[in-house]
Amino acid sequence: MVGQKWVRLVTAQTPTNIAVIKYWGKRDETLILPVNDSISVTLDPNHLCTTTTVAVSPAFDRDRMWLNGKEISLVGGRYQNCLREIRKRATDVEDKEKGIKIAKNDWENLHVHIASHNNFPTAAGLASSAAGFACLVFALAKLMNVREDEGKLSSIARQGSGSACRSLYGGFVKWIMGNNEDGSDSLAVQLADEKHWDDLVILIAVVSSRQKETSSTSGMRESVETSLLLKHRAQEIVPKRVVQMEEAIKNKDFPSFASLTCADSNQFHAICLDTSPPIFYMNDTSHKIISIVEKWNRAEGTPQVAYTFDAGPNAVLIAHDRKAASELLKRLLFYFPPGAGTDLNSYVIGDKSILQDAGVH
Ligand code: ADP
Ligand code: DP6
Ligand code: CO
Repeated sequence: MVGQKWVRLVTAQTPTNIAVIKYWGKRDETLILPVNDSISVTLDPNHLCTTTTVAVSPAFDRDRMWLNGKEISLVGGRYQNCLREIRKRATDVEDKEKGIKIAKNDWENLHVHIASHNNFPTAAGLASSAAGFACLVFALAKLMNVREDEGKLSSIARQGSGSACRSLYGGFVKWIMGNNEDGSDSLAVQLADEKHWDDLVILIAVVSSRQKETSSTSGMRESVETSLLLKHRAQEIVPKRVVQMEEAIKNKDFPSFASLTCADSNQFHAICLDTSPPIFYMNDTSHKIISIVEKWNRAEGTPQVAYTFDAGPNAVLIAHDRKAASELLKRLLFYFPPGAGTDLNSYVIGDKSILQDAGVH
């Protein structure tokens, strides 16, 4: 190590991903190994995303992290697992411009400071843990010059939060559950890149940005322990659905994509209800959004919009195209007019011009 008064910084930005075939249940809590495969779509990096800066300096005496401006504890568990796995793979770093030279063996004695910020609600069912841990692992890997492919990085991010492994790729992504006990084959692969089906428009209706009462981690643990439906879902239903979903994505078959997405979201929330004590992630507004979409899809004869809800009340709405997205927005604004005391407080929109199409400025 040359010199003592230096700081090396790396900043990364990672989008969140929303599962269309859900991960809900672990077979190994420490390694975070799931009971079934899952499939997601990664959102546009310009919208819902995490920005993380990692810094290393000989002046730091311990690892520290700030999340949305507040210091959080790194003791135990997931953060340590990610840090350890990345540190293990650190290599030589040379920054000639700054005159910084770090040898492979120096890393075990160096500490990092991490500052992360989500530009969307944290722990509210919009997959902040996915964007958060994917971004952390990616930024640390760059800082420490880790030479691993995205598949390997995804399996490290998985040990931070399961859904995070899918945020290392854009487009449509599958998390393969794997068979190995050590988790080495439980990783994400890209099914199709972001250009493959770019007619789709994703709208997010933020029903509540409050932190959920039951975290995904404890919710799914309770479901594994108490829901009899969960086993049936994991073993009988999801394997078939994953094959059908891959086919629908490949062929850009929106009716199949929409019916599988909606059915899987509803089944996941049915598992939550089948948990003892039952977990309610959706609320009346979520249910009302489902009814609006279902009625509209039925009236059209062919689905225009798919809905999916993660572990929270917020709706992720995937429209067939811009026209359907604009019509959807009009309908949402009709049923939940802004300022009329409804529960739907804001929209996060993939493409701002859709707002203009819908007459909102
Ligand atoms: P969500 O539905 O938002 O993913 P979870 O209950 O799965 O909610 O996870 C929330 C937790 O994820 C937070 O309490 C925090 O521990 C972690 N997390 C969220 N954002 C970040 C981030 N940017 N960096 C690291 N960890 C994060
Ligand atoms: C409903 O990945 O947040 O969003 O692995 O315990 O961190 P941990 O849980 P997390 O669970 C996500 C559950 C989900 C569905 C999904 O993203 O597949
Ligand atoms: Co999460």
